[in-house]
Amino acid sequence: MANKAARIAELSQRAVEMQASPIRRLVPLADAAKKRGTKVYHLNIGQPDIITPDEIMQAVRHFDEKVLAYGPSQGLLALREEIRKYFHRFDINVGVDEIVVTTGGSEAILFALMAIGDAGDEVLVPEPFYTNYNGFATMAAMKLVPVPTKIEDGFSMPAREEFEKRITPRTRAIMYCSPNNPTGAIFSRDDLKMLTELAVDRNLWIMADEVYREFTYDGRVHTSILSFPEVADRAICLDSISKRFSACGARIGCLISKNTDIIASALKLGQARLCPPTIEQMGAIAGYQVLD
Ligand SMILES: Cc1ncc(COP(=O)(O)O)c(C=O)c1O
Repeated sequence: MANKAARIAELSQRAVEMQASPIRRLVPLADAAKKRGTKVYHLNIGQPDIITPDEIMQAVRHFDEKVLAYGPSQGLLALREEIRKYFHRFDINVGVDEIVVTTGGSEAILFALMAIGDAGDEVLVPEPFYTNYNGFATMAAMKLVPVPTKIEDGFSMPAREEFEKRITPRTRAIMYCSPNNPTGAIFSRDDLKMLTELAVDRNLWIMADEVYREFTYDGRVHTSILSFPEVADRAICLDSISKRFSACGARIGCLISKNTDIIASALKLGQARLCPPTIEQMGAIAGYQVLD
C-alpha cells in the first residue's frame, strides 16, 4: 500500500500550463530599477496616465443604497442603455439585449472563448497579441494559433492566405485587437472586410477586441466589427471602460453580439458568477453620461 503521508494531491494540467502574467512579472524588476534611481516607462501595462473623470469617482462615492445587493447577471439595464447610446454615436445600433456587462473586458474575452470553443479547439490571432489571451485560452483549454505580423510593414493585417493555411478542422474563430496591443496597429475597413469574408467562407466566429477604440492618432479611424452587417450573426465585440475612462480598477467591460445564442451562452456563464460589480457599474454609467 502506498505511503499515505508521502502522497500529495496533484495540480491540474491547466494550473501547471497557465502562464504567470508576463505583465505582472515585470513589476518587481521595475520596482528594483526605480530604487536604483532609473526612470521607468511602464510599457508593460495598459494603464492610462490620465485621471479618472471626477463624475465616475463622485458616482462611486455617492452610492447610498442600504444594501449592496446582487445585481442582474446581464448587468444593470441603465448601464446597458448607456452602452447602447455610446455605440449609436458611431452609427452602430446595438440593443440592450445584445449586451452582457462583464467583470472587465477580460471576462468578456473568456466568456466569448468559452461560448465558441471546446477543449482543443483553435483560434487564429494576429501576433504579437495581448499576452493575457494566452491565459484566457488556457482557462478555456483552447489553443491560440498565431498569425505573424511584421514590424517592417507596420504590423499590418496578414494576407488572407496566411490565415487560410493555418485553418484546421479545429479552428473555430479569428480573434483580433484593433487598435492592437502591443503594436498600436489599426486594422482598416478593407482589412476587416477580408476577415469577414474569410469568416463567412470558412464558417468561423470573429472576436473583435475593441477596448482601445479611442486610441487612434494621425487621422486614422477605428472600424468596429459591429459595422459589418454580413457578419452580424458571427461577430462578438469585446469592450471595456478600463482604457476609455482610465478606470482600469473598476473592472467593467462588456460582450456584444447580435447572435442570440452567443448572448444566451454568455449570460449562462455570467449567471454562474452572479453579477458584475454594482458600484462600479454606477461609476460607468456616470462615465458614459459625461459623453452626452
Ligand atoms: C488588448 C486588451 N484587451 C483586453 C484587456 C482587458 O482589459 P480589462 O479587463 O481591464 O477591461 C486589456 C488590458 O490591458 C488589453 O490590453
